[in-house]
Amino acid sequence: MSSIAVLRASQLVTLAGPKRPRAGRELSELAMIPNGGMLIRDGKIDVVGPSAEIEKKAGDAEVIDARGKVVLPGFVDAHTHLVFAGNRLDDFERRACGDTYEQIAKAGGGIWSTVEKTRAASETDLLMQAKKHADWFLRCGTTTVESKSGYGLSVEDELKMLRVMRRLNQETPLEIVPTFLGAHAVPRKRRADEYVDLVVNEMLSRVTSDGLAEFCDVFCESGYFDIEQSSRILGAAKKLGLKLRIHADQLNNSGAAKLAGQLKATTADHLEKTDKEGIAALKSGGVQPVLLPGSVYALGSSHYPRAREMIEAGLSIVIATDFNPGSSPTPSMPMILSIACTQMKMSPAEAVSASTINPAYSLGRGDQIGSLESGKLANFSIFDCVDYRELAYWFGVQQTDSVYVKGRRVH
Ligand code: NIG
Ligand code: FE
Repeated sequence: MSSIAVLRASQLVTLAGPKRPRAGRELSELAMIPNGGMLIRDGKIDVVGPSAEIEKKAGDAEVIDARGKVVLPGFVDAHTHLVFAGNRLDDFERRACGDTYEQIAKAGGGIWSTVEKTRAASETDLLMQAKKHADWFLRCGTTTVESKSGYGLSVEDELKMLRVMRRLNQETPLEIVPTFLGAHAVPRKRRADEYVDLVVNEMLSRVTSDGLAEFCDVFCESGYFDIEQSSRILGAAKKLGLKLRIHADQLNNSGAAKLAGQLKATTADHLEKTDKEGIAALKSGGVQPVLLPGSVYALGSSHYPRAREMIEAGLSIVIATDFNPGSSPTPSMPMILSIACTQMKMSPAEAVSASTINPAYSLGRGDQIGSLESGKLANFSIFDCVDYRELAYWFGVQQTDSVYVKGRRVH
């Protein structure tokens, strides 16, 4: 039996608490242990407590000295587009010169340009690029990510993306939770309704029969998929046993948050343009909002989602990177903590709950990851700072000391 004792952390941020996502004031309760420690056996957390007590129980365990450092559960990133080919440097430059996301998409950039590159890439090439992205996430202290397809937009290319995620899960220490996002954009020269037929009649059954996804997502937005088309796709996905996430109200308030509430989706993501009614719909449907301030920042907008109102409404909010080549090219959760605090007025403690325990529940893994508690997987990161608030405060600097997945050092 292999054991590890993490000792003398200046703050062991456990997030121990009720076995459900945190809401309201609970978001500020981090269950932190000053001068804390934990004992790990066979990849799982055995005991958590004051360092002196852990030391007594440590026996011949290998010791990790976390003196002067902060220990946190591995970040759980509940919204990424991790698999894609190439980059969108031209879009980036055009945006810097004043063009909008929508203008760039119309002029031949946008999602479609990544689709062309992703279709042309072999499975092996895509996997190689995805491994590079996976390594970036680990380096930033993230140990689980949700990852969406959606740059294939044909049966074979969507399946190719999902198979890359499966291999990534097997071949790297990063845990991948796969989401089918066949309805990310309407392919060139196709009618939207005809493409929705393809998603509903062919793609969904292929994806589910091969067990390639846990969730289904739709980009519900004008110019992409409207409420009726989104509802058709998500309804069909639900019948096949997939759980639901929705890109909702990112560029316009199209009523997508309300749809998420009606469908009792697991999450509604983005929500930049969601109003009071939309927030109420999320609450009544038990939907977790996933806020993606990195995409607001990178698109050069200042229209952040109403995080404070959502917290006051009692929603179990999540923050995520939305890592993708177009609107949010960052894998860094510490960067997202910074933007959440400075732009959405979340406290550092709320931001930590929203990037660990809450996303773990949103991915159906709240019993395994997201906090440092006895019985959970030993997925944790050690940061080179003495106070957890430093993670959000110093921005643009890498503070990761080391990262562990199932008790094994991966970075
Ligand atoms: O979440 N909004 C749609 N999808 C992504 C952007 C994808 C892209 O531009 O490639 C997002 O922001
Ligand atoms: Fe997205």
